[in-house]
Amino acid sequence: MIEFRDVWKSFKNVYAVRGVTCTVQDKEIFGLLGPNGAGKTTLIMTMATVYRATKGDVLVEGHNVNTEPERVKELIGIAFQDAKYDRILTAREILQWHGKVTGIDKSLREKRIDDTLAKFGLTTEARKRTWTLSGGTKKKIENAKIFVQRPKVAVFDEPTAYLDVPSRLMVWEMIDELRDEGSTVVLATNMMDEADRMSDRVGIMSKGEMVQVGPPDKLKGTLRGRDVIELKLKEPMPELLGEVTKVEEVHDARFEGDVLKLELSNGRELLPHMINVVTAKGGQIQSANLKEPSLEDVFLHYTGTKLT
Ligand SMILES: Nc1ncnc2c1ncn2[C@@H]1O[C@H](COP(=O)(O)OP(=O)(O)OP(=O)(O)O)[C@@H](O)[C@H]1O
Ligand SMILES: [Mg+2]
Repeated sequence: MIEFRDVWKSFKNVYAVRGVTCTVQDKEIFGLLGPNGAGKTTLIMTMATVYRATKGDVLVEGHNVNTEPERVKELIGIAFQDAKYDRILTAREILQWHGKVTGIDKSLREKRIDDTLAKFGLTTEARKRTWTLSGGTKKKIENAKIFVQRPKVAVFDEPTAYLDVPSRLMVWEMIDELRDEGSTVVLATNMMDEADRMSDRVGIMSKGEMVQVGPPDKLKGTLRGRDVIELKLKEPMPELLGEVTKVEEVHDARFEGDVLKLELSNGRELLPHMINVVTAKGGQIQSANLKEPSLEDVFLHYTGTKLT
C-alpha cells in the first residue's frame, strides 16, 4: 500500500504538487492522469525518494519515505519518463547494473534480462551503446529495468510513449503479469485508452492537486446525463419530441436531419424503452447508436482542459 498524506512539493516558488492525499491499494494498478505539468512526475518522484516532499509524508508499505528512504528504495522500482543513461554503457549493461544494485542474484538477473530482451525483440540491439538507440528502444530498456527487478512497488512514468502498437501491447501484458505476481503498480500516463484498459482505479491531477480518484467506470458514471442515444429514422418526425421527453431521464431531444438525438442518463438501460416509445408512435428505426462518456470526457471534465 502507498499512502500520500498532504504531500506538497515546490521548486523555488512554483508549487508542482499541492496537498495530495490518496492511497494506492496493494496489488492495484493505479493510473495517474493529468494534463502536462499537472504534477504526475513530481508526485512519483516524491514517493521514489528522488525528491523530498516540501511538506507531508509518503508511506510505502508502511515505511516513511523521509525517515526510512533506504527501506523504501528496496521496495520500489521506477521506470523514468526521461531516462538518462551513461552514454558508454550498452543497453544490456544498463539492465545488468540495475539488477545488481537492486539485489537480484546474478543467474536470475541474467535469465530475466534474456527473457525480457527476447520479449521486446532486443537481444541484438541491446549490445549497442545506449546513445545509438532510437527513442522507442530506449523506452523499452527503461521499462525492462523494472521487469528485471520485479519490485514490490513498480512505478511506470509514461511507459508506452514512443512505442509502436505491438510493443505497447507487450508492455501492458508485462505490467499485468507483474501485478499478478503481487506487485502494486503506479502508472502515469497521458493515454486515456491505456489508463482505461490497465487501471483498477485512476487518480486525476490538475494543477498539482488530486481532483478525482476512482475506478474508470465509476468516474464515467459521475458524468450523469451525458449519454446520447441516436435513432436514425426513415424520416424526421417532430411530433415524437413531445413523447420522448416525457421520459424523466431524457433532458434534451432534437432531430438532426432524420436522426433523433436524445441526451439522457442511464442510456444503456433506457435504449430498449426509447426504441419502444418511438416505434409505438409509428417511427421506423433504421439504426440505433448509444454513446457513453469515455475516460477522455471524464479527464476533460475534471481538469477543465476542454479545447473549444
Ligand atoms: N526540477 C524541476 N525544477 C523546476 N520546476 C519543475 C521541475 N520539475 C517539474 N517542475 C515543474 O513542476 C510542474 C509539474 O511538472 P511534472 O513534470 O510533475 O508534470 P507532469 O504531470 O508529469 O507533466 P507531463 O505530462 O508533461 O509529464 C511543472 O510546472 C514543471 O515545470
Ligand atoms: Mg511527467
